[in-house]
Amino acid sequence: MRKRYTRRIGILTAGGDCPGLNAVIRAVTKCAHNDYGIGVVGIEDGYIGLVKGSGRILTNRNVSGILATGGTILGTARGNPFGAAGKKDEDYSCFEDAFKSLKLDALICTGGDGTLTMANKLYKHGFPVVGIPKTIDNDVMETDVTFGFNTAVSIVMNAVDNLHSTAMSHHRVLVVEVMGCRAGWLALEGGVAGGGDVLLLPELSYEEDVIFERVLERSRHGKRFSIVVVAEGVKAKGNLIIREEDNAESGRVRLGGIGHYMSRLIEEGTGLETRPVVLGHLQRGGPPTAFDRILATRFAIEALHLVIEGKFGQMVALKGRRLTSVPIDKAVRKLKLVPKNHPLIRAAISVGTSFGRADLRST
Ligand code: F6P
Repeated sequence: MRKRYTRRIGILTAGGDCPGLNAVIRAVTKCAHNDYGIGVVGIEDGYIGLVKGSGRILTNRNVSGILATGGTILGTARGNPFGAAGKKDEDYSCFEDAFKSLKLDALICTGGDGTLTMANKLYKHGFPVVGIPKTIDNDVMETDVTFGFNTAVSIVMNAVDNLHSTAMSHHRVLVVEVMGCRAGWLALEGGVAGGGDVLLLPELSYEEDVIFERVLERSRHGKRFSIVVVAEGVKAKGNLIIREEDNAESGRVRLGGIGHYMSRLIEEGTGLETRPVVLGHLQRGGPPTAFDRILATRFAIEALHLVIEGKFGQMVALKGRRLTSVPIDKAVRKLKLVPKNHPLIRAAISVGTSFGRADLRST
């Protein structure tokens, strides 16, 4: 099975980190050594590190003990690798040089939409790459779930659990801002798991009056507190994106601020004391859950098998309980968003959760 030319592979992690990346690095390295006798180079700081030729040899010994750790031992980066290589346009010679200097026969790229888009471009320019999807946002198309998401959902759930007692004691509304630029999976699943009273997702524009009414209704029924979970990508009135700042270096908009905005809005609209809580990067840190460790390990082994079989340009994916792969090209350029008729939205409405919209109510 093993193709003769696969003697050394590279692995990189790019984009925002998430729990489970180290499980991938560990599994790729161990499987490559144990099952195929292939060398592995860990590329430092994603594509930026790759074009700079920054890599180190990974062995069973130096990936030992990392399964339970968050983050990535390789480091990660966002940003334009061509710029980092001093190129004005998309000149792939910097990648050719990197493959040569690091002696790579193939490359496994682990990341979200941005990372996979770059992997797809590399593949289309003839580079032997395979993709592994990761993101706490769970917004990569063509896979039911990405690792990192389950851990982040647990973190949101625990935060909402903990906020209940203080909200209850002070008879306050607490607005919890969670990550999720364009997709609201984390707000939805974390909010449902934690029993949030109002969940606001980027996909579903909200009506202020419906939010106020839900919170006041709870108050009238003796529940003198409410928890509102809002995804950072939710837009304010007039379709306004609330952002902290523009990140000129990576060309990305840094979101944040909707929690404070919503908190003020609810306090003014209801007269109830309201406080914002921003979970921020807490959601991306710490040890991965069992689910994420297992998924990351399975993805890694599958990705390595694709490399061995010479099936490049593919991304590993989970469909139902089945591990499979799809062309990276099918998974990029669009994001997996929460559909309005998602069964979990219906279930949440049935237990009294509001989505801040009059058309999403219990009948
Ligand atoms: O990786 C996805 C994500 O966590 C988004 O939910 C969030 O908007 C973004 O990354 C934050 O990125 P950074 O850590 O670069 O500010």
